[in-house]
Amino acid sequence: MSKDIKSVDYGLEKIFEGAQDFLPLLGTDYVEFYVGNAKQAAHYYKTAFGYQSYAYKGLETGSKDEVSYVLKQDKIKLVLTTPLNSKSPINDHIVKHGDGVKVIALWVEDARKAFEETTSRGAKPYMEPQVETDEHGEVVRSGIYTYGETVHVFVERKNYKGTFLPGFRAWESDYNPSSTGLKYIDHMVGNVGWGQMNTWVKWYEEVMGFENFLSFDDKQIHTEYSALMSKVMSNGNGRVKFPINEPAKGIKKSQIEEYLDFYEGAGVQHLALATDDIISTITELKARGVEFLPAPPPTYYEEIPKRLGEHMAIMKEDIGKLQELSIMVDADEEGYLLQIFTKPVEDRPTLFFEIIQRMGARGFGAGNFKALFESIEREQANRGTL
Ligand code: FE2
Repeated sequence: MSKDIKSVDYGLEKIFEGAQDFLPLLGTDYVEFYVGNAKQAAHYYKTAFGYQSYAYKGLETGSKDEVSYVLKQDKIKLVLTTPLNSKSPINDHIVKHGDGVKVIALWVEDARKAFEETTSRGAKPYMEPQVETDEHGEVVRSGIYTYGETVHVFVERKNYKGTFLPGFRAWESDYNPSSTGLKYIDHMVGNVGWGQMNTWVKWYEEVMGFENFLSFDDKQIHTEYSALMSKVMSNGNGRVKFPINEPAKGIKKSQIEEYLDFYEGAGVQHLALATDDIISTITELKARGVEFLPAPPPTYYEEIPKRLGEHMAIMKEDIGKLQELSIMVDADEEGYLLQIFTKPVEDRPTLFFEIIQRMGARGFGAGNFKALFESIEREQANRGTL
């Protein structure tokens, strides 16, 4: 059962007890973006976000129809893929959606079983289980569709010792900007159409064995002008978390509706990337040109001690420094978290990134929603899409 945001118990223990085990996930494997120019996108993610060159496939490796650059930062792997000719179906995805996330790949012990378990529960197949081999061993992958044209690919790599996947070669580059301290993917958020949130909540429950452990309705997530609803889905061990958003009616256009208009359908809204030193990470990202949403008003920072209550005693960060960097803070009964959101990273106002540091808190910054959404609305107003 979903929990109200005001509840003090987020119910994670219940997930451990109650989750169905038919789809055990070891974690996120990689996230693949279809983009118009992977070479330039790779340069941006290396330079601005501090990803490292990791693996490559393209004409030089015998891949005639598409090129992929794999970037890595600690546990995060991003794949940037561009078609090399007009015949590739990847073109259709880019024409319709612009640059965006196509694949959320999940690391599993058994990709054949993952495919059987999910398709037998109603998942639409994307890729039948296939074995890929090279001199480093074998990888088994399979895939299913989720919301929109987004897919989950299951990756079984226990018998593989190569760099990324068969077909790729290690990518050695002379240009290696330093890391910005990003560690792993904390959660990935999907935006779905009007009235579709509960459909996809049910789909993640029934097809993937996930549980809904937090819910926010439009009475909780709204500003003077717009609203949205959100439910957070988690797999059994809590390593994979997918909040699902849908727009709600307000006086003006919901940011979710703006996304759906420009992405032309459901898709991934943001990836939240974890750091354990958000002040140094954000200082570095800003120095490298990453654009973030503007700061909440000064009163927001004045109210932080009251909102954090007893957690102020363990808070190490200087509030003035957080304000200078526009970092937001929220707390629950277990601790606090620090977070900040980039502006969209493409010309269409679609995908963006969140940077998050958890100091015990397991929530998603609900206490920041109002300040955050007012900031997003100012951006929407600038775009003429509010
Ligand atoms: Fe988030």
